[in-house]
Amino acid sequence: MTTVPALSIRDLNVTFKTLLGQVQAVRGVSLDVAPGEVLGVVGESGSGKSVSFLAVMGLLPKSARITGSAVVAETELIGASNKTMRKARGAKIAMIFQDPLSALNPVQRVGHQIVEMIQAHQSVSKADAMSRAVELLDIVGIPQPKDRARQYAHEFSGGMRQRVMIAMAIANDPLMLIADEPTTALDVTVQAQILEVLERIRRDLGTAVVLITHDLGVVARIADRVQVMYAGRIVERSEVVALFEHPTHPYTQGLMQSLPGPTRERLHPIPGAPPNMLRPPSGCAFAARCPHSIPACSLEIPELRPIRGSESACIRAEELQEVLS
Ligand SMILES: Nc1ncnc2c1ncn2[C@@H]1O[C@H](COP(=O)(O)OP(=O)(O)OP(=O)(O)O)[C@@H](O)[C@H]1O
Ligand SMILES: [Mg+2]
Repeated sequence: MTTVPALSIRDLNVTFKTLLGQVQAVRGVSLDVAPGEVLGVVGESGSGKSVSFLAVMGLLPKSARITGSAVVAETELIGASNKTMRKARGAKIAMIFQDPLSALNPVQRVGHQIVEMIQAHQSVSKADAMSRAVELLDIVGIPQPKDRARQYAHEFSGGMRQRVMIAMAIANDPLMLIADEPTTALDVTVQAQILEVLERIRRDLGTAVVLITHDLGVVARIADRVQVMYAGRIVERSEVVALFEHPTHPYTQGLMQSLPGPTRERLHPIPGAPPNMLRPPSGCAFAARCPHSIPACSLEIPELRPIRGSESACIRAEELQEVLS
């Protein structure tokens, strides 16, 4: 990659101090997202998808211990001061969630909330900020945006609220938008519309998007590359077509058979459960559930390495090529 990445993460580790001990939620995650690229992030519940990016946004509770680096527009976010974080959030990197109500103020008109977001980062008049707010509502596909700007969040449907949250997130034209399960709570039609909005933002504004999702169908629709997480680590990263055509990690294959996807009629859950992150295994964390594991898999943690244009953290990736495709 020759262009400067919109987001660059190196060796990110997150542990939570709990009554039972240290939960190792994220273990050595590194990634780059190019400007205008959509990176899909998939993996079972608890694999560290949200925590990785909440750490980058500075949104984890105090019980989290975070090490490593995350750079957006030459600004280091890990360990940054509150002031630096406040300046970066919104202006350089923004995040949207499954539940838009958590991000919207119930007693403030929607347009006004966007105005405040704009004025927090730009010195523009209220009138200018309001016309920009209306423009943003239009960009995310809210009909009659001028009238809608005067309404409250409860007057919007779930899908419309999600659009408003996206409008707020892009109000200051961030380089990087993190979307954590943005369509999970929505019905399929509305889901498709929200994906279209994300697609448009990437195309027209050049915003890079990290899209965290359980749904491989969603990934297939809009991601350029996909990163598969398991037990706090990246186990595979591939171009989206390659991932579906020839996965390079047994976990990816298992996930494809167990999650809803574009061409899947029957689901086959992966037997067993992810490891206890209080004491993650010393080798490949998937070995205990893997139909292809051998004793060597449990010796040390496998690193992500290049294979067939993808990256895989399976020590048997080469010999398993035929079996996995
Ligand atoms: N505040 C916290 N305190 C202790 N452990 C936490 C905390 N937040 C998250 N964890 C743990 O960190 C791990 C990763 O959680 P994370 O929320 O990133 O999972 P996820 O991949 O986003 O899952 P899901 O698909 O369910 O959203 C889990 O084991 C979770 O229990
Ligand atoms: Mg999550």
